[in-house]
Amino acid sequence: MSISNQIELWTESQSQNHLQLLGSIVRDELEKETLLRLDVSYLGDRINRWWLDRKDSPITECTHSSMVMLIKETMQPAHLEVLKTIGSQKTRIAALLLKHAFTFINKDLAHLVHEAISEIAGIIDIKYPYEEHKELSPQSNLPMTSDWGRGLGIIRPHSDDLYEEQSINMMCLTVCKDTSRTATWFWMLKDITRCLTDEELGYFALSEATFLSGKNVEGKRIKVTKNILRRDSEEGMGLRLDFRICETVGPRMKCCDKKAQLIFNKMRLSLPHLKPHTSVPTEGSISVISNYKVLHGRPSLNPVMLYDGTASRIIFRSKGTK
Ligand SMILES: [Fe+2]
Repeated sequence: MSISNQIELWTESQSQNHLQLLGSIVRDELEKETLLRLDVSYLGDRINRWWLDRKDSPITECTHSSMVMLIKETMQPAHLEVLKTIGSQKTRIAALLLKHAFTFINKDLAHLVHEAISEIAGIIDIKYPYEEHKELSPQSNLPMTSDWGRGLGIIRPHSDDLYEEQSINMMCLTVCKDTSRTATWFWMLKDITRCLTDEELGYFALSEATFLSGKNVEGKRIKVTKNILRRDSEEGMGLRLDFRICETVGPRMKCCDKKAQLIFNKMRLSLPHLKPHTSVPTEGSISVISNYKVLHGRPSLNPVMLYDGTASRIIFRSKGTK
């Protein structure tokens, strides 16, 4: 019997044994997922030379195509294959952290490389009209607000856009510049769920939760209830998780029953004891992740290091479907 059929069966019969079995199956699946780091200095050298040769020329659609071509031609075939298949259950690589993809601090260059890498990874970018999207730049004059991309405070582990009807399964983050030297943090689901028993994980996976939009969405509140477990024929299993607490709406994720909420609270309490994976917080660092398999966040930004002005930390972000 396939895993999908077993889960359908156990959804109807939540006996302790069935929940334990389901929890162990979910755990086995999550344990297979990995995060891969690659130093692509060889690619960065080629991109740097290309940029110096043409930097005074206007940027057109052709420039974008040239960058896609350059990356495809230069990247080692094994590295290119990983980039194309992130999130697939065939390779089980849920996150790819590249460093040294370029070394010049230039917004046009960073944007070009970001868009090309996102395209090769197969991300169909989605822009919602009610939020700032592509360029993320916290402002040095903003408060230490937490769980808000433009604030300076900590951003707790989360997947993006769980409150949207569309499934946002991929994300790409490119560091153009960061004088605050603040790494993005990543957590694998296998680490976040390790504090749970198999029975708790099984129960939690079968539960539903309500997801709320936060301060990032201007003008309206979006609220949607979804299954916590996400299954996809291409990607396999993922979980919908959001530990952010918004200053305006409160917890961004609320479980639909008391027991599931207690299990969620148990995971929240374990977070300070986990060591997240960290990106390299300098220009040319690019992170491509599967949104339902890897949670992201960051520590508080250092305000002293933000006196470089309003553009001291510039990150390009794409998120969408694959
Ligand atoms: Fe996010």
